[in-house]
Amino acid sequence: MKFFLDTADLNDISELASIGLVDGVTTNPSIIAKSGADFKTRIAEICAVVDGPVSAEVVAQDYDGMRCEADVLCAIADNVTIKVPMTFDGLKLCRVLVDQGRFVNVTLCFSVAQALLAASAGATFISPFVGRLDDIGHTGMDLVTDIRTVYDQDADIDTMILAASLRHVTHVVDAARAGADVATVPPAILRQMITHPLTDKGIAAFTADWAKTGQVIV
Ligand code: E4P
Repeated sequence: MKFFLDTADLNDISELASIGLVDGVTTNPSIIAKSGADFKTRIAEICAVVDGPVSAEVVAQDYDGMRCEADVLCAIADNVTIKVPMTFDGLKLCRVLVDQGRFVNVTLCFSVAQALLAASAGATFISPFVGRLDDIGHTGMDLVTDIRTVYDQDADIDTMILAASLRHVTHVVDAARAGADVATVPPAILRQMITHPLTDKGIAAFTADWAKTGQVIV
């Protein structure tokens, strides 16, 4: 499973990408608002440090408006992936952009039916929102499992499942178990994945024992 960073924080992206932990980046209008950054400038900055797909979301809701916005965003860098909402007009734009060779991420997916139609429209990525389904009392990860099942039953589908709205480390591991191709993860969760209490305990024990030897390596 590949890891995308779900953030517009350039410091996090640069640091984590420098050690190879970042295969791509996802943003949305809320993430951009939280960052306080200028949208187009920040997408350009992210694309300069990440080679993989960088999702930039259109905000118009009609096809013509989304198309104009997508043209502007596509001009920023070749690795800009246009993120479109799971709507009729979003799928219409998805088909046009994919036919032009552009990556498209269909976002706000909450059902298998939506995921099937996104695949038919040629989506590069489908983004099931796990946490937001959990929020309303569903088991969000079941959606990832179910999309994996139906996608695998059709050899013509090459849309990648991008597990989104992941809120904790267990979500990430469960997304991998469910067969997601990609997990988009907030930086704090990716950093948390590095840690384990027994790792910390082991380091402390090794450090204490090493001190008893009176030796130095350098
Ligand atoms: C990513 O593409 C999504 O926009 C993001 O994961 C949504 O996460 P949230 O539901 O925690 O806002």
